[in-house]
Amino acid sequence: MTHKILIVDDNQAVLDALSLLLEIHDFSVVTATNPFDALQIVRYQRIELVIQDMNFTSDTTSGEEGKALFYELREINPHSPIILITAWTELATAIELVKAGAADYLPKPWDDAKLLVCIGNLIELGSAKKIVATHNRHQQEREGTFKNADLAGLIFKSTAMERLVTMALQVAKSDISALITGPNGSGKECIAHIIQKNSPLVSQPFIKVNAGALPQELIEAELFGAEAGAYTGITKQRIGRFEAADGGTLFLDEIGNLPLSGQIKLLRVLQTGEFERLGSTQTRKVNVRVISATNENLLQAIEQGRFREDLYYRLNVIELNVPALCERQDDVLALISHFLPHRELTINTEQALQHYKWPGNVRELENACKRVAVLKPTGALTVDDFALSSPVSSQQKAEPTKQEIEHAMRTHQGVIAKVAREFGLSRQALYRRLQKMGIDY
Ligand SMILES: Nc1ncnc2c1ncn2[C@@H]1O[C@H](COP(=O)(O)OP(=O)(O)OP(=O)(O)O)[C@@H](O)[C@H]1O
Ligand SMILES: [Mg+2]
Repeated sequence: MTHKILIVDDNQAVLDALSLLLEIHDFSVVTATNPFDALQIVRYQRIELVIQDMNFTSDTTSGEEGKALFYELREINPHSPIILITAWTELATAIELVKAGAADYLPKPWDDAKLLVCIGNLIELGSAKKIVATHNRHQQEREGTFKNADLAGLIFKSTAMERLVTMALQVAKSDISALITGPNGSGKECIAHIIQKNSPLVSQPFIKVNAGALPQELIEAELFGAEAGAYTGITKQRIGRFEAADGGTLFLDEIGNLPLSGQIKLLRVLQTGEFERLGSTQTRKVNVRVISATNENLLQAIEQGRFREDLYYRLNVIELNVPALCERQDDVLALISHFLPHRELTINTEQALQHYKWPGNVRELENACKRVAVLKPTGALTVDDFALSSPVSSQQKAEPTKQEIEHAMRTHQGVIAKVAREFGLSRQALYRRLQKMGIDY
């Protein structure tokens, strides 16, 4: 995005010279020869910086006109910096305005290089301020939503997870059925915990059944219970998980593995609260909130006749989809510093881990961190220390050296945005390197 700069001067030669200078440095320039036009432009266009003269009528030199324009510009757009161009006679006024918030003043005739550095820094500062302001606003919103919530130890920084958790907290307050979807190890169970912990049923039983971990013939007995001798292998009476969860919450994990006969029974409990233990004709009634989870594509399972469509719609009043970890890079470093507190990563490592695919998602990351903690208990960590299972992507540019960064800083006259772009880094990432390498900026 090019930055738009307004120049206000009654001298056309000054406007031409400055426009040319700025345009060859990739800025987009708008000019005005008098305060009235200048104010109109600032009102209706997105101007990031103003360069203004102090006098607009040929026979005045007091700087009063410039002063008036300065205050009006500030009023319309308090955040865009203003650079004053002054003749030596107006120095006192210029200094007064700098105290009142003008970004800087340049005495005529100005020095092109100085002006460019000054503009570069101000624009950089302006975007930095905007980033900080947005960040603070987010932080406040986040604190508001999550302040009184029990987040069950979930660590996240990404907006995708913020949205998901916000939704989970809303679902918690209602009694609708929620289906949590997402790949292996992404945190589905954590989300189920958040729903339960923030629901009115928090002090009631929270029972978990993993349909994927049980042999198919046992799942129904596990869910609905069985009388002794109901079938081979069942020697004593068994209380089902629905009964155990009565009045509370049942978390049905890997729901896609439930056999069709179990699905019919499940649908019935969900609709009427009624079921029978295996081997019994006595109908029992419970009141259970069901949260289910799957890493399977249930719509595909429906197409293949393995999953009942009516049950799907019953379970899936609302879907909470947990994205794969590689789709929320912002969470990676937060999770690593949670699982490996106070450990330093080399710069390369941070980047490589953020770009890694994490096929096993958070579970893989957690295990990798545990391994590192044991095998390399001290010292800065490199990618190799994490012994990742699949190859680390080599798409990133090589880490720039101190000399390369210093060279680029000189070439771009210290304009951070340009230097960052050259290395394919974000501005924050570049700042971190400048600090680490002790480069003056
Ligand atoms: N955002 C997170 N913050 C902290 N720990 C997390 C987070 N997400 C997941 N974990 C941890 O990662 C592991 C896997 O998470 P979880 O069991 O919730 O995933 P899942 O989606 O249910 O996985 P699966 O599909 O294999 O059942 C757990 O140890 C969990 O505590
Ligand atoms: Mg799970």
